[in-house]
Amino acid sequence: AKITYIQTDGTSTIVDVKDGDSVMRGAKLNGVPGIVAECGGGASCGTCHVYVDKDNTRPLSTMHAVEDELLYCTASPRLDNSRLSCQIPVSDDVDGLVVHVPEKQI
Ligand code: FES
Repeated sequence: AKITYIQTDGTSTIVDVKDGDSVMRGAKLNGVPGIVAECGGGASCGTCHVYVDKDNTRPLSTMHAVEDELLYCTASPRLDNSRLSCQIPVSDDVDGLVVHVPEKQI
């Protein structure tokens, strides 16, 4: 599925992410800057924070308590559309998803 990552300066990168990979992994494997992902996807670092595009209508994975809690500790402010990108699995359902990379992760 195609996932678009938009940086704070407006630069966007469109990546074809394999089914079953996460939005975080898609960024890391393709050199998208701004996703640090220190814990490698274990939902324990909070450095893979993204803002899901406000116009998103695609069904995203449910947010679990661990993710919800970690999102209070991110380096950039938590907004209504904040998610941990390692907790968003990619499938055809989310093809075309757009996420915004926050200003900082650490
Ligand atoms: Fe650490 Fe997502 S990679 S919380």
